[in-house]
Formats: sequence, C-alpha cells, structure tokens
Amino acid sequence: MVKKNACIFISGAGSNLNNLISRSRDYTFPINIKLVISNNSRAKGLNYAKKNLIPYKIINTHSRDFEYKLLKDLKRYNIAIICLAGYMKILSKNFINKFDKKIINIHPSLLPKFKGLNTYLRILKEKEKKTGCTVHYVDDRLDNGKIILKKFFYINSKDNEMNLKNKTQRLEYSAFPEAIIKLFRNN
Ligand code: GRF
Repeated sequence: MVKKNACIFISGAGSNLNNLISRSRDYTFPINIKLVISNNSRAKGLNYAKKNLIPYKIINTHSRDFEYKLLKDLKRYNIAIICLAGYMKILSKNFINKFDKKIINIHPSLLPKFKGLNTYLRILKEKEKKTGCTVHYVDDRLDNGKIILKKFFYINSKDNEMNLKNKTQRLEYSAFPEAIIKLFRNN
C-alpha cells in the first residue's frame, strides 16, 4: 500500500500525536507522519517528534505571512492530510481553501454538543448521560465541519473532570486512527 504523508498540528501534551506515530509504524495504516507543527514552542508533544526524528516546526501565528510559509512547507513534504490533535488555534478560511487537501480534527465531546473549551466541566454541569469524542472535517468555524465518526461511553455518577478526560482520551486513541483509515479507504 502506498501511504499518504500526514502533518499533525499540536499545541500541548501530544498524546494523540504519540498514538498516531505508533499506529503509523504498521504498514497497513494509511499514513506516515512527515511533519509536526506546533504554535507553542513549549508543547510537551514536541518531544514525540524529536524522539521519533520527525521534522517539526514552531509557527508564529502572529506573523503576517505564517500561512504562506506553512503552505509552502506542506507542499514541500507532499502532505495529503492535516490532523489537528489538540491544536488550539482556528485555521483561516483562506488557509483551508488554499491547502485543498483533507484537514481533520478530534474533539472531546459528541459534536455538535459542547463545542469549544472546558468541555469536561460543561458536560458534567449539564448532567449528560453519555459523552465521547468526535472526528470531523475542519472548516473555518470552531469544531464545526462534517462529522467523520463519533465514539461514546456512558457517564458514571462518580466521574469527575479528570477521569472523564482519561476515558475520553482512551476512546480518542482508537477513534482518530479509525477515522483516518475510513477516509483513505473511501478514496
Ligand atoms: C484531545 O483530548 C483532543 O480531543 C482535544 O485536545 C486534546 C489534546 O490532547 N482537541 P493531546 O495533546 O493529544 O494529549
């Protein structure tokens, strides 16, 4: 199988990045990770790129021509898919249109419920019966694009923010790779 080149965008811990790196070692997994982008130079997740010798770049989203430079890099690495894995910035419409390949994101709720930040606390406050994660295409609105897949579990009365996060992230580690497989199987 000919694998596609992927770029993962992060801002923080990078546990999804780490998971995708280990999944991509399997020759049947449809992507290889060729580039990691972070808007945060102190993101812990950058260590996974370093450890696995994956090129990475810190992008300064305040600079005027950062999108132009980014598009050039994506072209240089022949990137067919961008996976946002805890990337805390919204991509502009201009960038999304110009890239014109797949861009997907993983969000820790059952979209369209609970878009945005502080998801776990809001889910608990609303006394939801179930929660989970969603993988979706990215458009220029927050957590908004077409849904690729969701996975859920039932919330237990003893769940707090911490274990809701743990349970959700455990699901993410199967949902993100599954969504990627689904995308390339259908294309
Ligand atoms: C994930 O839970 C994802 O749903 C959200 O940000 C978190 C990133 O975690 N968008 P990590 O950096 O992959 O550990």
